[in-house]
Amino acid sequence: MYNFSFHIPTIIHFGKGTITHLEELKDYGKKVLLVYGGGSIKKNGIYDNAIKILKDAGLEILELSGVEPNPRIQTVREGVRICKEEKIDMVLAIGGGSTIDCAKVIAAGAKYDNDAWDLVLDGSKVNDALPIFDVLTLSATGTEMDPFAVISDLTKNEKWGTGSKYMIPTMSVLDPEYTYSVSKKQTAAGTADMMSHTMENYFSMEEADCQKFMAEGLLRTMIKNGPVALNEPDNYEARANLMWAGTNAINGIVGDGCSPAWCIHPMEHELSAFYDITHGEGLAILTPAWMEHILNDDTAPKFADFARNVWGFEGNDDYELAHKGIDALKKFFFETMGIPANLRAVGITDDKNFEIMAKKACEGSKGSFAALSEKDIIEIFKAAF
Ligand code: NZQ
Ligand code: ZN
Repeated sequence: MYNFSFHIPTIIHFGKGTITHLEELKDYGKKVLLVYGGGSIKKNGIYDNAIKILKDAGLEILELSGVEPNPRIQTVREGVRICKEEKIDMVLAIGGGSTIDCAKVIAAGAKYDNDAWDLVLDGSKVNDALPIFDVLTLSATGTEMDPFAVISDLTKNEKWGTGSKYMIPTMSVLDPEYTYSVSKKQTAAGTADMMSHTMENYFSMEEADCQKFMAEGLLRTMIKNGPVALNEPDNYEARANLMWAGTNAINGIVGDGCSPAWCIHPMEHELSAFYDITHGEGLAILTPAWMEHILNDDTAPKFADFARNVWGFEGNDDYELAHKGIDALKKFFFETMGIPANLRAVGITDDKNFEIMAKKACEGSKGSFAALSEKDIIEIFKAAF
């Protein structure tokens, strides 16, 4: 196990009715910028609940709405402008990963003199941020308890992840009931995203039993509860298990000490940057193609563990088991969860950008579980096509 420092200062309030904790924001100042997306929080009533609690706590509220899935730097800039002009004390995001990521970079940009895109390209330039709070409404990204944010400039086909300890939320409200209204498509994509985070950590040459067995437990939790949430959207236990598993997939608990550089995420971010697709769908399509591409004598034992401990297969032949595990994952994503099975099915109808996408993704994939060249990545894109 490698050395690591583990520190997650986020206060998590988990469960029904925990939104009342927003009242605690009054301890952080007077003026709050409320950031949200395209309006789902108005339809399902979360907006009204939050506004009442904030007003009762004596807070002054300014709003930034319309944060896009795959949030844009242009929206971040607008939020930074409001924070600076209105002397905002804190940022509250209510929504999924896109809204929360956007709020994180707004909070950092408010304390930065130049353009916020600098902070997306280089997280080490974040030296301070306004306090960040969130109410999570979609289980997927884990942004509610991690230092990361992913922002796009689609005018340049760019989507990059950044990270800083200053962007870790101060407090996150996780009420599984708030995810009842998430569509089937987003429930499936969210489950695939959290499974991908767990697998990016899990597929490592570093042996660390504690992290490995926890990761296997998280994957089993997601595989059990994803289909239940899909078919019974208001099943509290399924939504609660997915929510907490998603948070723990990326907060460092299963990655620190053993995780290699992630490789599926850099590839997916290129798909989103060029074609604006749903993150979790891209990951689900790429992951089995990646697994098949890198299966060899070095990686087969780990894939065999995956088949045994996550999917319950038995046997002694590593290759046979590896194929069973990969096939089970495909069946889960594309049949049980109904995720589109290839890139054409999410609207990517040509391969003309694969070379440039591979070049950019390759930068982020160095040192991964199995080293990938640009040629490897192009082959994975083609296999997923
Ligand atoms: O915008 P609204 O109207 O709120 O609708 C959203 C959006 O259309 C909707 N939604 C969210 N909660 C809902 C709901 N609809 C009904 N009921 C609810 N309770 O769902 C749609 C998708 O929302 P979005 O926030 O885009 O989804 P997600 O949470 O999957 O976030 C995806 C973004 O996070 C980034 C991705 O790249 C992508 O940009 N990631 C962030 C990470 C991080 N910060 O650590 C790590 C991830 O790997 C990922 O890269
Ligand atoms: Zn992800």
